[in-house]
Parts: sequence; C-alpha cells; structure tokens
Amino acid sequence: MLLACSKLTVTYGGRIALKSFDLTLQPGEVRALIGPNGSGKSTALQAMAGLLRPSGGRAVIDGVAVDAIPRRRLARQLAYLPQQPTAPDEMTVAQLVRQGRFAHVGLLRSYSADDEATIGWALESTGLLALADRPLRELSGGERQRAWISAAIAQEARILLLDEPTSFLDIGYQVEIIDLVYRLSRERGVSIVMAIHDLNQAMSVCDRISLLAKGETVFDGDPKDLAETGLIETVFRVRGTFVPIAPNAPPHFDVELAHRQMRDGVLAR
Ligand SMILES: Nc1ncnc2c1ncn2[C@@H]1O[C@H](COP(=O)(O)OP(=O)(O)OP(=O)(O)O)[C@@H](O)[C@H]1O
Ligand SMILES: [Mg+2]
Repeated sequence: MLLACSKLTVTYGGRIALKSFDLTLQPGEVRALIGPNGSGKSTALQAMAGLLRPSGGRAVIDGVAVDAIPRRRLARQLAYLPQQPTAPDEMTVAQLVRQGRFAHVGLLRSYSADDEATIGWALESTGLLALADRPLRELSGGERQRAWISAAIAQEARILLLDEPTSFLDIGYQVEIIDLVYRLSRERGVSIVMAIHDLNQAMSVCDRISLLAKGETVFDGDPKDLAETGLIETVFRVRGTFVPIAPNAPPHFDVELAHRQMRDGVLAR
C-alpha cells in the first residue's frame, strides 16, 4: 500500500463535504473517482494532496500524514492536477511544464539533461511540442488542459492525482490522455487517482472505482462489480443498461435518453 485514506472527513464551515472516506492505493493502480456534481471528488483529491486539513481521519503516504510532509519532498512523491488550475497568463507552455520539475531542481541549479529530456517527453506525450512557446492565454481550453497534464507528468511523481483531466478535451485527446494514464501505470508503475465524469472511460481504464454520493462512498471495488449494483441509475438519476463488450472487459453503460425516444415517437404516442 502506498497512499491510504482512512475515515477522512472534510467539512466546509460546518457542512460535511466528505464523510469517513476510505481508500487504499497500490503501486501501479489506476483508481477512478466518480460521482455526481458536488459529491466530494475534488474535496477527496485535495485532502489526498495535503491541501485541506481534514476534520477527521487522515491521508498517509507510506504511513506519513500528507499534510506533515514538506512541500518539496511531497512534490517528488505526489503530483496533483486541480480541476481549475491557474497560472500567470503570460507563462508559456514550456515554462509551465518546466515548473512541474521544481522539486527535482535545486534553487540555483540549472536543469540537467535528464530534466530536459523529461520536459520534452511530457510535452510530446500530450501533443504540445508545437505549442511549447505559446503563452497559456493564447491556447484553447483543451490545449491549456493538456499543458497542465504535461506539467503534472513532468513532475515524475509515483502518485498522480488528476481532477477531471479530460473535461475540455475532444474525443481524440480524451482517448490519448486515458491511454497515457494507463501506460504511466503499467510501464512506469505510477499510481493514479482520477476524478472523471465519463463512466465508460473510467470503467475501461481503472483497476478499482470509487463511487461517491453526497460525500459518502457508496461503492469501492472492481469496476465489473459496479454494474451489478444498480447504483449508477439511482445515484445519477438515469436509466440505462450495462452491455457486455468483451469477455474480460468491464461492460459499457448505455444510458437511456428520453429525447431519443421522443424523437423516435415512442413517448409521443
Ligand atoms: N471551498 C469550498 N467552500 C465551501 N464549500 C465547498 C467548497 N468546495 C466545495 N464545497 C462543497 O463541498 C461539496 C463537495 O464539493 P466537491 O468540489 O468536492 O464536489 P465534486 O464531486 O468535485 O463535484 P464536481 O463534479 O462538480 O467537480 C459540494 O457541496 C460543494 O458545494
Ligand atoms: Mg470536482
């Protein structure tokens, strides 16, 4: 076990946003966090990143509370991509990605050949080599999101926390980033916790999945087992069917769209 949360509880001004959250993350594991808007996913990630002081329970890395680990040391262990990151508008893509390596570079030391190679790899892996010198303010929403993902992976931490990393990406880049997450876990042994709204993408890439509802974990387990619970339909207030797609793959959730039936005249009659 690498990262563990036990009975983690976070309150904002007396309101509970995350209640008794448990999670254990193994080396090389991909964990998806799913749940409706406001269910506590970002709160859980912030607490795991040591950015929120829990009102109960704790998050530990190798047994040490994350909020007690000095920032530079923590940054070598854990990279965190917030849902809405901010940086100075004038900063270029390459500058942002270089900043991702701050924990590896001494204050006065220049970047080593290793650092430069990692920065190049991070830019290339996110399709940003051609945009490296562009200021962030001149990028599209999806390009900017890829720049932040690039900075997070350039950090080369063994734990990667990603808060909806694909929310602004077109379908092609969504697939590339999901594939990148998978490769990082399998080829480099990186452990990843990712909040993500696309249930099928989450199921396709993760080893384990946590479903949050109103701050509470209502499922924690193998994605294949989630299909049996009926929780997706109740928690997200949708109707749909889990459809098998391959013998060893988790099934695909096919959501029932009322307007599709209306268009087909099913509801009109
Ligand atoms: N800084 C804050 N101050 C007060 N309440 C907050 C704050 N951040 C989040 N909340 C509240 O805590 C709850 C959980 O929010 P959180 O951002 O963790 O949800 P989420 O699952 O990430 O949602 P989304 O899918 O919309 O990103 C919500 O009710 C939200 O309104
Ligand atoms: Mg969120």
